[in-house]
Amino acid sequence: MTDSVIISPQVSWEELKLSKPLSLGVMASGKGSNFIAVADAIAQGKLNAKIQVVIYNKPQAKVKEKAAEFGIPTVFCNHRDYATREEFDQVLVETLKAHQVDWVIMAGWMRVVTPVLINAFPDHIINIHPSLLPSFKGINGVESALNAGVKIAGCTVHLVRPEVDSGPILIQAAVPVLEGDTPETLHQRIQPQEHHILPIAIALAAQRS
Ligand code: GRF
Repeated sequence: MTDSVIISPQVSWEELKLSKPLSLGVMASGKGSNFIAVADAIAQGKLNAKIQVVIYNKPQAKVKEKAAEFGIPTVFCNHRDYATREEFDQVLVETLKAHQVDWVIMAGWMRVVTPVLINAFPDHIINIHPSLLPSFKGINGVESALNAGVKIAGCTVHLVRPEVDSGPILIQAAVPVLEGDTPETLHQRIQPQEHHILPIAIALAAQRS
């Protein structure tokens, strides 16, 4: 089935060579497979970058242990400790700046972010979303696509703007929806493509900035 995956744009790591290493901060809420994809691309010498910090907002987030395995510092920021999204985002900004982060990677960050964060890193915040945007924005992108009966699904990496799951698209991957798919089986088909395109998108964004 991998034959039917379409990725656009098609770029090679050779074309994505960066002269100066990027300083990344990763924000994640879940199991952290996209964080691992970025960390692996760095370890394999494809993406010229260093992850300075991983911020997570759920105490049980598996990404914490994954980051530790890569020797990357983690910081727990609990949104429940703050009255407003803006106050929480201000703490994120301070944490990211304290770790000298230039690029913010939302790798499964299940919180809406506000202009407080967005304006602190203009056009330097990258999000991965499990649908072919602009279709199926929001938290249940995979399920919504399935419910709509689409025959092609996928994932998108884009720059973050104040409107949720909007902002200039960097790269997309399309996969087929198969007979009998559930949200879980479809997500399982999409995720390897997320892992493929997220590190590429980071290099693409850096090249264009
Ligand atoms: C991914 O499907 C991503 O597209 C969405 O959240 C999920 C995170 O997965 N925003 P993981 O924690 O990186 O495995």
